[in-house]
Amino acid sequence: MHDVLAKLESMRAAARLGGGEKRIAAQHGKGKLTARERIDLLLDEGSFEEFDMFVEHRCTDFGMEGQKVPGDGVVTGHGTINGRLVFVFSQDFTVFGGSLSEAHAEKICKIMDQAMRVGAPVIGLNDSGGARIQEGVASLGGYAEVFQRNAIASGVIPQLSLIMGPCAGGAVYSPAMTDFIFMVKDSSYMFVTGPDVVKTVTHEVVTAEELGGAVTHSAKSGVSDLAFENDVEALLQARRFVDFLPASNREKPPERPCADPIDRDDPSLDTLIPDNPNMPYDMKELILKVVDEGDFFELQPDFAPNILTGFARMNGSTVGIVANQPMVLAGCLDIDSSRKAARFVRFCDCFNIPILTFVDVPGFLPGTAQEYGGIIKHGAKLLFAYAEATVPKVTVITRKAYGGAYDVMASKHLRGDINYAWPTSEIAVMGPKGAVEIIFRADLGDSAAIEARTEEYRQKFANPFIAAARGYVDDVIMPHGTRRRVCKALNMLRNKQLQNPWRKHDNIPL
Ligand code: HXC
Repeated sequence: MHDVLAKLESMRAAARLGGGEKRIAAQHGKGKLTARERIDLLLDEGSFEEFDMFVEHRCTDFGMEGQKVPGDGVVTGHGTINGRLVFVFSQDFTVFGGSLSEAHAEKICKIMDQAMRVGAPVIGLNDSGGARIQEGVASLGGYAEVFQRNAIASGVIPQLSLIMGPCAGGAVYSPAMTDFIFMVKDSSYMFVTGPDVVKTVTHEVVTAEELGGAVTHSAKSGVSDLAFENDVEALLQARRFVDFLPASNREKPPERPCADPIDRDDPSLDTLIPDNPNMPYDMKELILKVVDEGDFFELQPDFAPNILTGFARMNGSTVGIVANQPMVLAGCLDIDSSRKAARFVRFCDCFNIPILTFVDVPGFLPGTAQEYGGIIKHGAKLLFAYAEATVPKVTVITRKAYGGAYDVMASKHLRGDINYAWPTSEIAVMGPKGAVEIIFRADLGDSAAIEARTEEYRQKFANPFIAAARGYVDDVIMPHGTRRRVCKALNMLRNKQLQNPWRKHDNIPL
């Protein structure tokens, strides 16, 4: 008996060693943690239950039959984050460069299937040289099995990808199909073709970091949601992030005791909006002052910063926040901000997370770059996302809500449940100056007449009361009481029931 126990222990020890001390040292030398160290940091201490530690590849080509490492380059299983169940796979770069074999893929698929059955998030820690070259098509098939599960799990369980090393070729498409991507600066990259292929095909000379590093994807392409300084920061923030999410679409968002009074007034909000309507102010300040304990988990802060998206809590319950940011492009909607917010709204709707929208939007960004880039289709994504969403929707207009963008930003007409406006709101087809220049074009030479007309328009339309008179806003509220009013609205909406008619799926303008 003792022999068997000792053998099991030595087999476990061999599996835990992955590709061996030398390769572990090399991994550390690059400033990266090993697959197991990452899991230890991600999960609650002692909570990890490992699956398939003894799985080996079945490849016999290129001398592979003599090179087997138990676990085959990926550590899989489940554990808890702050007591809540999650499934995790962590690719081990020390074993064949974390490359994905048929057996490696089967391990990932197994935990995805299990997560779907019990309703719990899947977190992938990606660090891989891609398809296991020695296995050929068996490896490609393995990837496709994972892709298929990513698609089926979408909207059923939250899927989070942490990119902590290379991720290239078709391998990028599994993370791309998950809900959120976190990257690590200077040690992770994602691209469809690497710098060498780029040089051959387009003659561009570019480093891996420039082409697909964390900064590139979190600021330029929008592929990544966040970029972190190192593995430790990424993993600790992933723990904080998962706390905001329900375990599946069958659950309501998690609730935690709230020490922040829901009736906390903030008098400084009464002076947040500058007297000059063309002066910007920081919408993030408003968010931080309204949500529980000023705790806002912002996503994509460096991509399309003219719109803010992220999670916070109101009275202890998760809300998704979408807010125009007047500090950037005056808060205009453009292609990137529409895509960013649309995907976020859809995530919230999939997972029963109420959406709190703060509006200060002068319209869609004009110009050929936007039109040629398809702002019509991209703007329609956000419109569609808000229109189809059935979760509680609470909207606060702080200043401008002009034109089509008024309609888009969770307006009453898109089944906004509670729509508030601050007294500083201007809800109109366009700003007073632009409006007067169109409807009183004949008076353009007469500056006094134009000024008088502009003032007339401002008095008539640049306020919230015309919309309020029609019931398009439910109330004009004092800025200092925003938290109290929004908490009450969300509380009233807790048991909201609304269903769209049956269909196979919608056809959102992609
Ligand atoms: C098998 C691989 C491997 C792979 C790396 N290794 N990638 N083994 N299949 N895809 C092994 C190496 O042989 C080496 O083994 C160890 O992992 C570490 O690799 P190094 O090259 O020494 O590390 P580094 O210098 O850090 O470079 C990492 C790397 C490079 C940039 C990822 O290894 C690389 O370019 N690998 C090939 C990437 C690639 O072209 N993959 C296929 C992409 S296409 P030893 O024994 O020396 O430690 C693809 C299609 C997916 O993935 C399609 C899905 C639809």
